[in-house]
Amino acid sequence: MKKCILFGVLAVASALASAQSTQKPGHAAIASAHKLATEAGFEALAQGGNAFDAAVAVAAALSVVEPQSSGIGGGGLFLLHQASDSKDIMIDARETAPAAVDAKQYLDAKGDLDQDKSWNGPSAAAIPGEVAGLVWIAQHYGKLPLSKSLAPAMRIAREGFQPDARFLDAISERSEVIKRYPASAALYLDHGVAPRTGWTFVNPDIARTLELIAAQGNDGFYRGQFAQRLVDGINAAGGNWSLKDLSDYQAKEREPLAFDYRGWHIVTAPPPSSGGIVLAEMLNILGGYDLAKVDRAHRIHLIVESMRRGYRDRAAYLGDPDFVQMPIAELTSPLYAAGLRASIHPDKATPSDLLPGYLNAAERPHTTHFSIIDADGNLVAATQTVNLSLGDALVVPGTGFVMNDEMDDFALKAGTPNAFGLVGNEANAPKAGRRPLSSMTPTFVIGADRIGVIGTPGGSRIITMVLEGILAFIDGELPAQIVANPRYHHQYLPDVVSAESGAFSKDEVKALEAMGHKVNESSHPWGFMNVVSWDRKSGKLYAGSDSRRASGSGVVK
Ligand code: GLY
Repeated sequence: MKKCILFGVLAVASALASAQSTQKPGHAAIASAHKLATEAGFEALAQGGNAFDAAVAVAAALSVVEPQSSGIGGGGLFLLHQASDSKDIMIDARETAPAAVDAKQYLDAKGDLDQDKSWNGPSAAAIPGEVAGLVWIAQHYGKLPLSKSLAPAMRIAREGFQPDARFLDAISERSEVIKRYPASAALYLDHGVAPRTGWTFVNPDIARTLELIAAQGNDGFYRGQFAQRLVDGINAAGGNWSLKDLSDYQAKEREPLAFDYRGWHIVTAPPPSSGGIVLAEMLNILGGYDLAKVDRAHRIHLIVESMRRGYRDRAAYLGDPDFVQMPIAELTSPLYAAGLRASIHPDKATPSDLLPGYLNAAERPHTTHFSIIDADGNLVAATQTVNLSLGDALVVPGTGFVMNDEMDDFALKAGTPNAFGLVGNEANAPKAGRRPLSSMTPTFVIGADRIGVIGTPGGSRIITMVLEGILAFIDGELPAQIVANPRYHHQYLPDVVSAESGAFSKDEVKALEAMGHKVNESSHPWGFMNVVSWDRKSGKLYAGSDSRRASGSGVVK
């Protein structure tokens, strides 16, 4: 790789101060997974709200129109930038394990992981965090009362809408589990069978639940009669929750992870997401190369080798920061990255053979990401989830939403892959009150003249998709192009470069194979990236919603 130029040190961002000056966009951009959710965000802005009110409106609307991916039975990570004081904040609304959690309950008689228990029904559900996150954002950063920011979601739920193919496919795929629970079947099935195109989905129960939250904040969900309803419903189905599990739940405000990459400032998710740390490791490794001067096959090789090393450390070290000591400073240090970089052969793949097996799951329509810039330059990157498609598929009667199946994001059996093929150890073991390790990676990319807000769903591939999005943004691509680019991924185990079709040319595949990489093209599209950006020189805003998905909506106005 003759053209590859190594730089000894990272360029430090000098851009940040000027990027956060007083200039304002004067208008707004929102990109989300659904047109109705994007419109809900603009409705909140039109009511006098800011980006944070818009985020509450978009998140709540997604609970109604895209419940297969996220919702008030799940959780999320909300990265905020407040323009008035240039403050970056992460609201951690990740779910927590209930006090009665017992790792043995997820094992079968042979001691193997029983995925029915970690994917479906009450044992799969962790205590939801989404509502506490939205209430926190509204109370501390928004300008509107929840009655206004939640109003579009309540209206859509009451009036009904026609679900898109992704939603209908998710119901069809999960229908056998949905049928186990009468309230789930009543909500999602049409006369007992998976609904078809043209079906109108009306959900007055979730509208009533949102009304309670609007009137009482956290108390309307985590305490009193509603909390009792949740506990009764989960326990009647065979779970083991207590009122205290719900009343103890707290969203947490955390300092985002921030680092520099070749003159750009990256602000992203700290633990309990693995996303920021793995992203920092990958970009710190890549910061020592001038990727623009490397031929494409070697560029892919270097990026894949950085992915391999970042994901190895994810499996080894990461978990809930409130419970686990993690070597974050070391993992995110440029010196550590320099050591990893030295282990990369310029023309040969490094074999990953240290950890056992892998389940190569097709991607399901789980998790969702939205990005917002408002007229004042406030930013929101939010990734929220119920974990797998339609979460655990259990609707507690009278609530109108599915619970998450986030317990599967714990390392329920050390070294055994979860639904995303990710392995972990004691650092991510299920313990009472712990947050399971996430891959959600909501991110800001800040340069002297351009700011990008990036994120995507996609399970274990979230972090590598965000990496590729950041590199494309830095190369000057606009959101519409960034979200359309074909993607590739390596997660240490299995030792394979997986790729969307079209990601590599035939010659690139040959070159990668000659370097020792195993390349596996996937027939399924990945992710659902939603990106907004602000070009401060021209004053223009841009929004791009993944062109792989029909329902996505990126709007500037
Ligand atoms: N539930 C997927 C994630 O948080 O990574």
